[in-house]
Amino acid sequence: MIEKGSTYVVMGLLNTDSIAYAAGRMLEDMGGNVIYTVQSERMKRIFFDRSKDLTEEQKAAMRFEYCDVTVENEVRNLFSKTGAIDGVLHSIGFANPKTCLGDSMYTPAYEDIKQAFHISCASLATVSHFALERMKKGGSIVTLSFESQMAFPYYNWMGVNKAALEALVRALAREYGREHVRVNAISAGPLATKAAKSIPHFAHLARTWKKISPLPWDVVNDKKEVANAVVFMLGMYSKKITGQTIYVDGGATNVGGVLLPHEKPLMRTPAKKAAKKKAKKKAVAKKKF
Ligand SMILES: NC(=O)c1ccc[n+]([C@@H]2O[C@H](COP(=O)([O-])OP(=O)(O)OC[C@H]3O[C@@H](n4cnc5c(N)ncnc54)[C@H](O)[C@@H]3O)[C@@H](O)[C@H]2O)c1
Repeated sequence: MIEKGSTYVVMGLLNTDSIAYAAGRMLEDMGGNVIYTVQSERMKRIFFDRSKDLTEEQKAAMRFEYCDVTVENEVRNLFSKTGAIDGVLHSIGFANPKTCLGDSMYTPAYEDIKQAFHISCASLATVSHFALERMKKGGSIVTLSFESQMAFPYYNWMGVNKAALEALVRALAREYGREHVRVNAISAGPLATKAAKSIPHFAHLARTWKKISPLPWDVVNDKKEVANAVVFMLGMYSKKITGQTIYVDGGATNVGGVLLPHEKPLMRTPAKKAAKKKAKKKAVAKKKF
């Protein structure tokens, strides 16, 4: 799916649960070189502390750079060090859960709203701008979204940012097409990661997905399927796809009128229902008699 020896910058590593980690590993397994970015040196220490499942050799083999996407100089520095690259995964998002997620859309915490927009949306434009210099032969930029055409409980300002992110993907795809650089989003179903845990009642969202997804959805193991789609979009078999939001969500957001799995008991035919009602009536009448 990717050219052997191609190089990708994978941004948004927090721990081995991160979508960025799943995608980075997949790229490496396919013969790619991966430059992972963490937000700060402190975050790198956290990554090492929390990644007990990685051997010392595995940790030593990973190339890390630091990059806080809200600091333009750090983004510039990052891409000044990478050399030529074939693509970037922007797997980054943040909204203060105390103010931007929760019961009500209203919050007077405008600085938090701005910060969430900067990190979760606008940073894709900054990253794309500086990455472009490193993709002289063309390339692919992929970001992560969550269904933004519907309103989900408690997702509040993050939902707004995902809608904006998808609009930004279209605008960037339009601008960078002439450089043969593609820009797309993968809209994933709910996955158990640190970012997800900060969404109030995430477990409810995950349960809902299980009920409404035509394909079985597993919040832990389907990270691999999302990573597969990321790799496809970064690689050589998606060369004419740009400006798109590709849904990797088990089909859940395509489903209306709920029921499933598998179209449940309510769907008895009206004739069967009527017969059941008649039989019940008869039984009651017989009892009375
Ligand atoms: N987990 C899900 O259910 C799910 C579903 C759809 C989309 N997504 C999106 O996937 C992306 C990755 O999230 P994840 O679920 O892997 O969680 P995660 O917590 O592992 O990753 C989020 C990353 O964003 C980074 N980040 C936050 N602020 C930053 C900043 N200023 N500079 C640089 N990095 C910063 C964090 O350090 C972290 O590495 C996010 O955009 C998220 O909204 C997640």
